[in-house]
Amino acid sequence: MITYGERQLALLPDNIKPVVENPDNRSRREWGTFKDSLKAPIHRWFTYPAGFSYKAVEYSLKTYGVTKGQTVYDPFMGSGTTNVVAKTIGINSYGVEAHPFIFEVAQAKLDWSINPVDIRDALNNIEDEVRVRKPVMSNSAHDILKKEFPELILKCYSETVLLELLIIRDVLLSLPLSRNSYRFLFVGLASLLRQVSSAATGWPYIAPKKSKITSNGKIPIVEFKRCIYEMLDDIRVTIAKAEPSYDDAEHHYFNEDSRNTIGLIPNNSIDHIFTSPPYLNNFDYADRTRLELYFFGRAKTWRDISDTIRSRLITSATTQISRNDPRYIISSELRTCCPDVFMSLQTATKELSKLRLQKGGKKSYDLLVSGYFNDMYLSLKDAFRVLKNNCVAVYVLGDSAPYGVHIPTDEFIGKIALNLGFSEFKILTLRERGGKWPNNPQRHKVKLKESVVILKKS
Ligand SMILES: C[S@@+](CC[C@H](N)C(=O)[O-])C[C@H]1O[C@@H](n2cnc3c(N)ncnc32)[C@H](O)[C@@H]1O
Repeated sequence: MITYGERQLALLPDNIKPVVENPDNRSRREWGTFKDSLKAPIHRWFTYPAGFSYKAVEYSLKTYGVTKGQTVYDPFMGSGTTNVVAKTIGINSYGVEAHPFIFEVAQAKLDWSINPVDIRDALNNIEDEVRVRKPVMSNSAHDILKKEFPELILKCYSETVLLELLIIRDVLLSLPLSRNSYRFLFVGLASLLRQVSSAATGWPYIAPKKSKITSNGKIPIVEFKRCIYEMLDDIRVTIAKAEPSYDDAEHHYFNEDSRNTIGLIPNNSIDHIFTSPPYLNNFDYADRTRLELYFFGRAKTWRDISDTIRSRLITSATTQISRNDPRYIISSELRTCCPDVFMSLQTATKELSKLRLQKGGKKSYDLLVSGYFNDMYLSLKDAFRVLKNNCVAVYVLGDSAPYGVHIPTDEFIGKIALNLGFSEFKILTLRERGGKWPNNPQRHKVKLKESVVILKKS
């Protein structure tokens, strides 16, 4: 019986089969979710449902004995949970995130050199401008907002709230702020958008027709100031609790693609990888930030989002797929390197390509599965390149069952890793998940789970 946390047990002897364990520890069940992080200073700045628990990162660093002077890497850094933990305890870190908006959130969370005086002055300026501009603009609010925002945004806010948000956004842009002060305030404003919306803008879907009560009476400038002062306080509290020499550690973050980090991260330079890649569950990361992207004018249409974001991310949603694109056929590299996984994938994708024709939505789950493993193959290959010998990479991920066809993602990832040169892998189940495949009207009965895949490089 394997107990997660006993270090020597994570380093399995040769030829041992992966062991799946069902831990009964309640808190461990939440490691793959953002629940813990939502309550923790700095981690909570932006609600990123794709994020994981900071406690899982702390646990892994301890379990694998990663200490000062060593380096942890998160190839799917998202909003920066791994790197914030590393920074707090003075461990060097690397992070790669392909989504530009989420990357900015991570950058803000990782920059603790914010000058509170500059922030306070900026807030006072913004408040003054709201007071002066709002009455002047109110009469023509309807036309101003209609010209400024796509329909989705107009549907999510009352005119008075949206006008105030617009003034805050524009004054913020016009102030002569340092780059890091601007980013700090930008993330504060971004995190407010869903709170002050009168529509159901909770993750994952935006439902402009459904109203919610929690936003009632919230005044954007008041909430903005409250949120920014809380963020400043979070930095103060975190620095007070951090290791005294936390600032000596080096951190490198890239808004890049973790399928290939040659030139960014040296070979054999990483002591530990802790990450959670996109799950194979049709979650469209680009679309989920549509509200923020539209509000800040980073995108105006679905097409803009595809061009600037969707196309940069690893395949994890059918919305990224075009059926004629050869990138969504199992690559010859994956086929040659991992014949065992290739055979299983081929069987599953053949079944999916038949099943889709019998379904209303005709979703391209067959190509989604191939594209996902093509991309994960490349990312794992890069992870192997950067990891030092005798070190461990930990992947938090979920399996899936599109159209009821079970894809044991954790097992495939482990097997691909072995073929790439990792010496062993182990799978630990964190929790069982609801047996439904999102967006699939015909629910299936396959029990899904969230697991940790531990890969060792000898
Ligand atoms: C499950 S989330 C990780 C969340 C992170 N653990 C946190 O706590 O915020 C996966 C992330 O991978 C990012 N991603 C997708 N494709 C990528 C790629 N090719 N390179 C780097 N990051 C990518 C997504 O944008 C998403 O933020």
